[in-house]
Amino acid sequence: MELIIDSADIGKIKALNELCTVTGVTTNPTILTQSGKEALDVIDELISLLSPDQKLFIQVVKTDYEGIMEEARKISKLRPKNMYVKIPVTHDGLKAIKTCKEEGIHTLATAIYTAEQGFIAACNGADYLAPYVNRMCNYGDGVETTKDLIEMLRVHQIPTKVVAASFKNTYQVHELIKAGIQAVTVPCDVLFNMIDHPATTIAVGEFTMNWQKAYNRKELFK
Ligand code: G3P
Repeated sequence: MELIIDSADIGKIKALNELCTVTGVTTNPTILTQSGKEALDVIDELISLLSPDQKLFIQVVKTDYEGIMEEARKISKLRPKNMYVKIPVTHDGLKAIKTCKEEGIHTLATAIYTAEQGFIAACNGADYLAPYVNRMCNYGDGVETTKDLIEMLRVHQIPTKVVAASFKNTYQVHELIKAGIQAVTVPCDVLFNMIDHPATTIAVGEFTMNWQKAYNRKELFK
């Protein structure tokens, strides 16, 4: 399974990239604005930070077909490999995903709220589908709908990967990993919550305390 970071916070991405085996980074226009920096500068920083084997996903900002294609072609050339264009599944977006497939541009179909939207984007040749799990919970069960999408792709033997997005808690991630999802893109705070547990810190403190009490030193070897 691919573990992806959904963020443009360079410091946190660096830290998590050391802690975890990270497949790449996803952003969207809102995430880039939240960096507080010029978006193109942040994109450059992300490109420098990631290894060539890690994937970077940048979303188009224009919303009409021609505009999406113009930006998609530019995004796809930002790196020699592992560069993906995120395109929302609007009418213009779906048309653009088809054209990108014909032109060999890798895409991630985003802003997916139903399994049907995702399935149609997959048929158009999207490499990844990003259902907005938490936001979907405003309309039903985001986790279950995402599981439906995974199943639709499986029974029809479509190789498109589902990269679940818009997570607000570790439970949502947990359920989809358990269901065999191909990828998750997780905000930094949720990913830290997946890693950290107060009981782990307490356990390590106990080991240190007992060791020191018994041997009056802090290390294994003398
Ligand atoms: O990639 C963006 C997607 O994850 C949306 O997240 O937190 O705005 O619902 P959010």
